[in-house]
Amino acid sequence: MDGFDITTRFAAGAPAEAPRFGGFPPYNFIGGHNDPALIPIDGLIAAAGSALRREGAKLAMYNLSQGPQGFRGLREFVAGKLTHRRGIAATADDVLITSGSGQGIDFVNRLLISPGDTVLIEAFSYAGAINRARAAGAQVIGLPLDEDGIRPDALETILSGLRDKGVTPKYIYTIPTIQNPTGSILPLERRRAIVALSARYGVPIFEDECYADLLWHDVDAPPALRALAPAQVIHIGSFSKSLAPALRLGYASADWPVLARMIAAKTDGGTGAIDQMVAAEYFTHHFGAHIGRLSAGLHAKLAVMQDALAREFGTAVETWHPRGGIFLWMKLPDTVDVRALVAPALAAGVAFNPGPEWAVDADAARSHLRLCFALPTADEIRAGVAAFARVCREVTGIPSRSANVTHSR
Ligand SMILES: Cc1ncc(COP(=O)(O)O)c(C=O)c1O
Repeated sequence: MDGFDITTRFAAGAPAEAPRFGGFPPYNFIGGHNDPALIPIDGLIAAAGSALRREGAKLAMYNLSQGPQGFRGLREFVAGKLTHRRGIAATADDVLITSGSGQGIDFVNRLLISPGDTVLIEAFSYAGAINRARAAGAQVIGLPLDEDGIRPDALETILSGLRDKGVTPKYIYTIPTIQNPTGSILPLERRRAIVALSARYGVPIFEDECYADLLWHDVDAPPALRALAPAQVIHIGSFSKSLAPALRLGYASADWPVLARMIAAKTDGGTGAIDQMVAAEYFTHHFGAHIGRLSAGLHAKLAVMQDALAREFGTAVETWHPRGGIFLWMKLPDTVDVRALVAPALAAGVAFNPGPEWAVDADAARSHLRLCFALPTADEIRAGVAAFARVCREVTGIPSRSANVTHSR
């Protein structure tokens, strides 16, 4: 039979080929995976049983016959969490359930970005946010960070410089509460200063609270930016880090004129309903206990990773101090370009996220890298960091064998 090559029919701008998945290496420090030992399997089994017995018949209808904003029980849970934990006045009607918070980022970009627009993103940030904004045609400007997050003085300098050029950015994208990758928490005075600048310059804030549920036990977070200035802030969050990324559950909250457009963008027939029912059932009864257990387990793993880095790298590594979450962000000496370590590390069974992929200005983060400590066991963390140090020494001469004193920022 005659055939033809279907790939010759692809549209201009069709996605590039994805690599075939070849499995994860033994020491996997990349991405935002969770701790397999802290998935509440028995609780989820019980929640699935109760939810399906009670409401399973509704699966016969698209969106469980509850409209495109998502399962009402989950929206009620999210509204309660936003109100009581983040200071955001919200009801179930103010919440849209999304298929992961990444879908929320897509909707906001679709709503706000035209090719050629400018957006402001923290200088080190979630690669998915930087890449999606660029893919939408935006020019991305990085906002300088220190150990507390965005510096309002630097933001003001950038906003006024852009105003002088007649440019009004479409949004300030920020992860104020457990920043990705640094793990910082923006203090209340800075939150107030940033919403004041947003109002003065007419630039919406796009607040991403993907990790805000995962705080160390002695850490408190100030109210969300949306709590301080609801009309100026679009807020998104996720169940990927508080429960499980494979569920694909996220949410968005914004004033109705914005939320209504985001709902219109959700043309996928609805987020998986069993996922929504199970998460709602489990978290309505067990959120506090689960988050407490999960955060304590993650905090303990962070300590294992910090010890391993101090032992293996000594003074050659500067680490940030995450106040929660699943990541440790760090810097090797300026002479090290971590991009040269990716392939040899992988050959030694170690995967890590190179800083340049987590930065608006890739070269400025050439010596930075991010390690996720949630997925590996404590033994894997120790062995993986030791293997990484061996590779780093072979390729760059760093750490030198005498490095044995901890230095951190
Ligand atoms: C800051 C931030 N936002 C959004 C996401 C997307 O997560 P998901 O789509 O799983 O909710 C991630 C994933 O790591 C993230 O780090």
